Amino acid sequence: MSEMTQPPYRRRAQTSTRDLERYAGLFAARTAMMRSSAMRDLMAVTARPEVISLAGGLPDTSTFPPESFAAQMTRIAHESAAEALQYGPTEGFEETKDCILEVMAAEGMLPDPDDIIVTTGGQQAMDLVAKALIDPGDVIIAEAPTYPGAISVFSSYEADVIQVECDAEGMRVEELEPLLDRLAREGRTPKFIYSVPSFQNPAGVTMSIERRARLVDLARQRELLVLEDSPYGLLRYEGDPLPPLYQLDGGDFVLYLGTFSKILSPGIRLGWAVAPPPVMEKIVLGKQAADLCTSTLTQYFVREYFAEGCWRRYIEDLVELYRGRRDTMLEALAEHFPAEAAWTAPEGGLFIWATLPDYIDTADLLAKALRADVAFVPGQAAYVDGRGGSSMRLNFSGVGDADIREGIDRIGKVIDEQVELYGALTGEERLPDAPAPREEPKGERRAEPGDTNVLPFRKAGEG
Ligand SMILES: Cc1ncc(COP(=O)(O)O)c(C=O)c1O
Repeated sequence: MSEMTQPPYRRRAQTSTRDLERYAGLFAARTAMMRSSAMRDLMAVTARPEVISLAGGLPDTSTFPPESFAAQMTRIAHESAAEALQYGPTEGFEETKDCILEVMAAEGMLPDPDDIIVTTGGQQAMDLVAKALIDPGDVIIAEAPTYPGAISVFSSYEADVIQVECDAEGMRVEELEPLLDRLAREGRTPKFIYSVPSFQNPAGVTMSIERRARLVDLARQRELLVLEDSPYGLLRYEGDPLPPLYQLDGGDFVLYLGTFSKILSPGIRLGWAVAPPPVMEKIVLGKQAADLCTSTLTQYFVREYFAEGCWRRYIEDLVELYRGRRDTMLEALAEHFPAEAAWTAPEGGLFIWATLPDYIDTADLLAKALRADVAFVPGQAAYVDGRGGSSMRLNFSGVGDADIREGIDRIGKVIDEQVELYGALTGEERLPDAPAPREEPKGERRAEPGDTNVLPFRKAGEG
């Protein structure tokens, strides 16, 4: 066979020790700081159909009507195929920005369209902000726990991430001030404060209005940037809406990140950032280098979808559905988790954060849970310093009620085994299933269904 006709051969997937050695000297120093996303790793395992995954942050895309999807895509094919298949402007199309303005207006925000850039998901928006602002060693302040995907971004730009505790009212802003003072004494100013104020991923908690106002005041007084990340703001199941930080500030010091992922589809990979012109200029340069522009095709899809005028209706349907699933999970937790456990009861969003006794390591527990064909995200993924080891993030949007009940039952059984084992080894008695009235440690108690004022949270080493 001549060289020309030789079939292409597939490279073997495994990497030999020699390969590793050859590449090791080539990697940029920042790769040493890069962290794998716990959820991405888990996705491979949870793809097995028998596994009930409470690990992902997946919206239920099966609720999007296929006929509507087909009609929109057909319209694009017939009416604007050439444009939809072409490159587009780096900042995104004005029509996409109009849709974004509608979404932001629904939460009381009115940004200038020139301050908006359309990105490949909210994740890229975060990456571009980080690329524009972070030098190695810069301090970034985040919540504890925080969105694990944000830790991946900030770490890959070699930031020094410092986390401020959350309780049932979100980030403890009162702890921020002394932290900023301490950093100032060390000659360090954080590049920005990262917050997911509404229905936080992973804890499910929402920052109170008082803390929102105080955080914005602090940012303005000290001329600090705040990066508000808000994928879940419109997914509220009870209580009154609270103003976004961006609205309170007016857009001078608060940069805003949004996404269509949880209100329409994560598969279209459309998000956005809002920033004042000098910051936006750098973000646009970063975006040009990253991917030139966001998918034209999916921007056309969003344009068609919004033109139908049903986007709010669809969110109302999602709210209805997820409210039910949240309640199912809260009920299942009360039934199947032991009295030693505690969890949050979120007013919106997609997640519940559960905390087990300190002697249970949720990373080990996950290995056992996977043998029982159920998955969750271990809490450590939400911290930079190894805390969160006895907590877990549970998602209630991605699977139906029956799977939520079954999944929580299975996790409950695995926890039970651990609690029993601990009792047998230490001779300590278990708490009764119906919890006896007990002294409530500050910020932590067993949740009642519908109770929104709980953030079970243990610091490492705390009894
Ligand atoms: C808090 C937060 N920010 C950003 C993202 C990124 O979302 P996407 O890139 O799909 O817009 C997520 C996804 O789950 C998230 O929970």
